[in-house]
Amino acid sequence: MERINLLVLSDDLDLRIEIKNLITGDGFAISGYSGFTPEGKTKTVNKFPEVVMCAVRGEVPDSVFNFVQDLLSAARGTIAVLANDNISVDLVNKAAQYGFRKVLPIDGISPEEFSQNVATVFKLEQQRVLDTNEGKKVRCKALGFFGGKGGTGKTTVAIGVAAQLAKAGKRVMLLDLDLQFGDVAMALDLDTKNSIVDLIQDRGGLTIENINSFAVEHSTGVSILCAPKSPEFAEFVNPGHVEKIIDIIRPYYEYIIIDLPAAFNDTSIMACENCEEIYLVYNNDMLSLNNAKVCWCILEQLHQREKIRFVINKAEKGLVRTEDFEEMFHTKMFAVVPADYAAAVASINKGQAVTVAQPKSEISKKISGMAEDIIAIHTGVERIDDKKESKKTLFKFNKH
Ligand SMILES: Nc1ncnc2c1ncn2[C@@H]1O[C@H](COP(=O)(O)OP(=O)(O)O)[C@@H](O)[C@H]1O
Ligand SMILES: [Mg+2]
Repeated sequence: MERINLLVLSDDLDLRIEIKNLITGDGFAISGYSGFTPEGKTKTVNKFPEVVMCAVRGEVPDSVFNFVQDLLSAARGTIAVLANDNISVDLVNKAAQYGFRKVLPIDGISPEEFSQNVATVFKLEQQRVLDTNEGKKVRCKALGFFGGKGGTGKTTVAIGVAAQLAKAGKRVMLLDLDLQFGDVAMALDLDTKNSIVDLIQDRGGLTIENINSFAVEHSTGVSILCAPKSPEFAEFVNPGHVEKIIDIIRPYYEYIIIDLPAAFNDTSIMACENCEEIYLVYNNDMLSLNNAKVCWCILEQLHQREKIRFVINKAEKGLVRTEDFEEMFHTKMFAVVPADYAAAVASINKGQAVTVAQPKSEISKKISGMAEDIIAIHTGVERIDDKKESKKTLFKFNKH
C-alpha cells in the first residue's frame, strides 16, 4: 500500500495529540501539525500530504469550512477529513459541500477503526484519481540522514547523495542540522562566515532571499546551510526555526538533504517529522544493530517508521551481516556501501564529496546508485542497472 502522509490541522493542541493517538498501523506517517492558519496552508501546499486531518471539538466554525475550501483549491490532490465530537447529518452535508471526503468521530472510536476509515477514504480517492487521470504534482522531497550512532557515515553519505542529485540536474539544498558538531563545512572545506545561527539572528528574518544569502553555493551546485561553528550556539536554533526553514525552501528546491546528529532531540525530531524519507545509516556491527533497533522503535512511536530506509555503510565481512538487519526489520536495505578507508580519507583530505574526489571507488558507485534510485523512485522511472537483484530491491519501496 502506498504510504499515507497525514497533516494534522487543529487549533487545539490537546486535540492534535488525540488525533495522533488515533492514527495507528502500517502505512501512515504524520508529516506535521498546524492550526487553521496561513502557516497551516503553507504547510499543506508545500508538503502535499495525502490527507489533511482537520480536527475540531464542538461546533465547527464557518472559518474552518472556508479555510479548508481554500486549502483544497490550493493543494489539489490532497484530501480533507474532518474529525469532530458531535456529528450530525447537517454537519456531514455541510462538510461534503466544502470538500471534505469524510467526517469521523473523535470519541468512542478505536484507533484501528479511525485509521481504517482514513485508509479507505484514501483508497477510494486513489481509484478516483486513476479513473480521472489526475496526477499529484511532483514536489520537493526532504531526505534526512540519521541514526543514533556517531561515525557511521551519515555525513559522508548525505554529502555524496546531495552532490550526485545536483549532478543529475536537481536543485538541492543541504542543511547541516547536526547543530553541535556539524562537520559538513569542514568536510567540504567551506569558508563558513555564516551558519544557520547567523541566519536566525539576522534582522531580515527567515525569508527565501535571506536563507539563500546565508547558504553557501558549493561547486557541486548544492546550496549548503552550515551548522554553527561551535556547540554552544546550537541552542539558538529551536524546532520552530527548523520547520520554518524547511517550509520556506521547499518550493525552490527539488531535494532538501538534511544531515542530522546521532541524537534524538527537539530539533532532530522536528527535522524527521518534516522529511519525506529518513535514511538510517549504520555499519554492520553489533552496536549498530542494537542502536538501529532502538532508533526504529522510537521512530515508530513518533509515527515516522514508514519513512525509514536503511543504509549499511562501511560494509565489511563481520559478525553482523546485511541479512541480519533485513531479518530484524523485515525490509531490504536501501543501499549497502562498502568500507573503503583510502577513498574516505582522500575525500576528506581534498575537502570534496567522496563521489567527486574518488568517483571510481566502490563507495562512490554505491552512493551514486543511491541518488539514482532516489530519483527513479520519485519520478517513477526505473533506472537502468545491469544487476537485476538491485532493481528488485529498489521497487520494493513505496513510490510516493
Ligand atoms: N564507506 C566508508 N568507508 C570508510 N570510511 C568511511 C566510509 N564512510 C565514511 N567513512 C569515514 O568514517 C568517518 C565518519 O564518517 P561521518 O560521515 O562523519 O559519520 P557520521 O556523520 O555518521 O558521524 C569519516 O572519517 C569518514 O571519512
Ligand atoms: Mg555527521
